[in-house]
Amino acid sequence: MMIDKLNIIFNERFSCNPEDSYSSPGRINIIGEHTDYNLGFVLPAAIDRYITGSFKKNNVGLIRVFSADFNEYCEFKITDRVAPEMLWSKFVYGVAQEIVKKIADPRITTGIAFDCVFGGDIPLGAGLSSSAALENLFSFAINDLYRLNLSKEDLILIGQATEHNYIGVNCGIMDQFASMMGREGSVLKLDCRSLDFSYLLFDNDKVRIVLFDTKVKHSLASSEYNIRRLECEKSVSILKEFFPVISSLRDLSMDQIEQYKDSLPDILYRRCSYVAEENARLLMVCDALGNSDYITFGKLICQSHKGLRYKYQVSCEELDFLADAAENFDGCYGARMMGGGFGGCTICFVRPDVEEVFTKELSESFYNKYGTLPDCIDVNIGKGTHKISQQP
Ligand code: GLA
Repeated sequence: MMIDKLNIIFNERFSCNPEDSYSSPGRINIIGEHTDYNLGFVLPAAIDRYITGSFKKNNVGLIRVFSADFNEYCEFKITDRVAPEMLWSKFVYGVAQEIVKKIADPRITTGIAFDCVFGGDIPLGAGLSSSAALENLFSFAINDLYRLNLSKEDLILIGQATEHNYIGVNCGIMDQFASMMGREGSVLKLDCRSLDFSYLLFDNDKVRIVLFDTKVKHSLASSEYNIRRLECEKSVSILKEFFPVISSLRDLSMDQIEQYKDSLPDILYRRCSYVAEENARLLMVCDALGNSDYITFGKLICQSHKGLRYKYQVSCEELDFLADAAENFDGCYGARMMGGGFGGCTICFVRPDVEEVFTKELSESFYNKYGTLPDCIDVNIGKGTHKISQQP
């Protein structure tokens, strides 16, 4: 078991037992892609793949962290002005700095010093938000170890600010929110403007979730992501002339966008219309799930993929291939690319009786086309960031 392994490594490295352990999950997203930073709706869920960490406060004035998966170590003082070098350690450093900023009382934060060993089973770069899981693990653990009384919403915002200020990705709120607040057996409908949310049951007996990781990792993912955000902001500034009260694309319906289509360059029109349609689709998906109408649900999922492919233009050939093959498979309700795009996973929704043959056939046809097998990732809906247990 992961936790036992981590505790053994902890003991070897730091010559004592950890105090507490915490786990933080990755996430999937049913629908509502690139809508979070437009302050629309998203429908993600936490998954049963986690990053787990064992922690103990120390009295040497250092944050000392060992990544069991990378076999790498970093240490820094919370007051250090420069972030450590390794990518994963920048997340830890960034979270610590954002906590310092939020608490705004050096008498409390300069004393933060602890040892940690962490590891996990969330596939990296597959679009399952291993980075949000890592941020939440550390913000949650530091908050608990030092009794800082930050709310879960504070911790979520600390994770997001870490991405913006220390990683250079201008992400929305979805990943950190889903990882922190996820609930077993349920998807989470989140309004990214008010941060109001509710849980909707997802019936795993009626529909199965199959993920295919294309293992494609395009280097342009983060730069194109930031460009999409800018395009959305630009569109808002143009359309504000006609609708002065709007402050994000969330505020516009498809009819309003159509009305002023000619004022927008074609590329911005595509971005805006995708966002308006995706928000509307998400609300219809919630209704369809509530009515166990998986046919309608699946059609909307496939439309989401087409929007991401042709209008938002964040898909790639391999994702399109898998989404098309899934859509044409009898017994698959619907499929689409998931997450930021330009690689990573497709999410497919299939009838339980065809799950096995679906997985086999799609893997084979992908292999025949690209000469590599996609990773088929088996996930269930898991629970949000949590404390595991008091150590003996
Ligand atoms: C990434 C970002 C999220 C969200 C998705 C696209 O996962 O981190 O905030 O924008 O892309 O839906």
